[in-house]
Amino acid sequence: MPAAVAVPREATVAVIGAGTMGCGIAQIAAQAGHPIRLFDTRLGAAEKARGGIAQTLSGLAAKGKLDSAAAEAASRRIVAVHALGDCVSARLVIEAIVEDLAEKRTLLRELEKVVTASTILASNTSSLSITALAAGLRFPGRVVGMHFFNPVPLMQLVEIVSGLSTDEAVADTIAATATAWGKQPVRATSTPGFVVNRCARPFYGESLRLLSERAANVPTLDALMRDAGGFRMGAFELMDLIGNDVNFTVTRGIWEALYHDPRYAPSVLQQERVAAGHLGRKSGRGFYDYAEGASRPAAAALAPQPAPKRVVVRGDLGVAAQLARRFDQSGIAVEQAPPREGFPDGAVEVADALLALTDGRTATTRGAATGVARLVVFDLALEYSRCMRIGLARADTCSIGTFEAVAGALQAAGIAVSPLDDVAGLVVMRTVAALANEAADAVTHGVASARDVDAAMQKGVNYPRGPLRWADEIGIARVRNVLVNLAAHYGEDRYRLSPLIARRYAAGAPLADT
Ligand code: NAI
Repeated sequence: MPAAVAVPREATVAVIGAGTMGCGIAQIAAQAGHPIRLFDTRLGAAEKARGGIAQTLSGLAAKGKLDSAAAEAASRRIVAVHALGDCVSARLVIEAIVEDLAEKRTLLRELEKVVTASTILASNTSSLSITALAAGLRFPGRVVGMHFFNPVPLMQLVEIVSGLSTDEAVADTIAATATAWGKQPVRATSTPGFVVNRCARPFYGESLRLLSERAANVPTLDALMRDAGGFRMGAFELMDLIGNDVNFTVTRGIWEALYHDPRYAPSVLQQERVAAGHLGRKSGRGFYDYAEGASRPAAAALAPQPAPKRVVVRGDLGVAAQLARRFDQSGIAVEQAPPREGFPDGAVEVADALLALTDGRTATTRGAATGVARLVVFDLALEYSRCMRIGLARADTCSIGTFEAVAGALQAAGIAVSPLDDVAGLVVMRTVAALANEAADAVTHGVASARDVDAAMQKGVNYPRGPLRWADEIGIARVRNVLVNLAAHYGEDRYRLSPLIARRYAAGAPLADT
């Protein structure tokens, strides 16, 4: 099949809506060489936006990030227009107006009267159905989603969204155009939340749920996601940045659009924040206090404990194998022994206690099932060879003294220990397993390919790994086990196993290659 051809550089692109997103889109399209028509119904908004973009471009040139001639040329290509009719020459129209189905449909109908029959009509909507936007138009095949992320000039990802009527060739052209503009396109079907907004729900949902179960406080949960999970921000920091009102609305929108599937259920804790006006940074208070002089609460960390002289590694620690090396490097004698019964995935004996990676059960349940009263479980880390913090929980049958002795081994290896209540699946493991489950379901339902889901989560929300590849690294059997155990523990549909994980596990095949 010949590679799709992008909208040619010399072709005019019209951007409708000169707000945050419209400005960013106009800027990068102008930088890519297109003549731009920028339109907004707000009086003077397009002209003001044009000036703002010109200033941004000359600022980039002043900092040496852009050739000054290129910056000037890009600025000159942008023309603010005062009527939709001035967009007649456009080969591509991208709308970035208010997120309202009726408004957008009216606009598209008006545009059909103005532009040629072959002009592509792209929408930057983040939540509306592309199918619904196209319905009733004379040529619905030309309507496609071109979902940029904020800030447009910096964010690589663009979701190219096909509705039921979208012509494949139109989506191909828009994907090629996004590439020509220096972006990474991923293909998606028009389903609630598309790829990123849907697949990211567990990132917020699990942290909110862990908080409501009082697994740990807000700064501790955030620190684990950052320092152990390798995410740029914890969920609460990110919700405060996005705005709790915005984040809550997106969650509720996806939950409602999927007919109240419990997996996406919003959190009462967040609803209360919204009700109180604790919207996050923008209101001065959210999960954290942003008032001037307010101090940032520290994550919980166990006080330093004595290091054990020796530990016994039973079996193969799999994804956590590097922990043994860190014990060894810290001067602890590390002995190797065969696996212990009931712990086929390895465990570490520290004095008379056992330390094992969480399998989705609480330490108490697992200890009772395996006859190990002094059981301590640890959380997932992105890289055990380097992580500086790990979450740890003890079975109810394990004393605090024993727990501290076990923690001493990790501390000796340079790892801060954040104590957690004995919740199922702990923090990072539970979140990553839920993210992989959601990603696998998105693939199952044809929202996007496995490769595109992984790329979208890395480029759109900066995850340190694509969730499917990450699950492969952890081991599909372990991730499946965590989810099956979570489902059994809570007895809720929320953690039901994705059919794709069940299938790839049975086949012994990786998820990311689906
Ligand atoms: P915004 O409020 O900054 O800008 C919207 C602009 O559209 C305003 O200047 C408004 O005057 C203009 N407008 C409204 N109705 C119009 C009409 N009928 N014709 C022409 N102009 C009209 O909004 P923002 O944030 O730029 O969002 C625009 C679109 O992009 C929405 O669909 C939103 O869901 C989507 N989006 C927003 C993201 C964000 O982070 N802000 C990220 C990705 C998508």
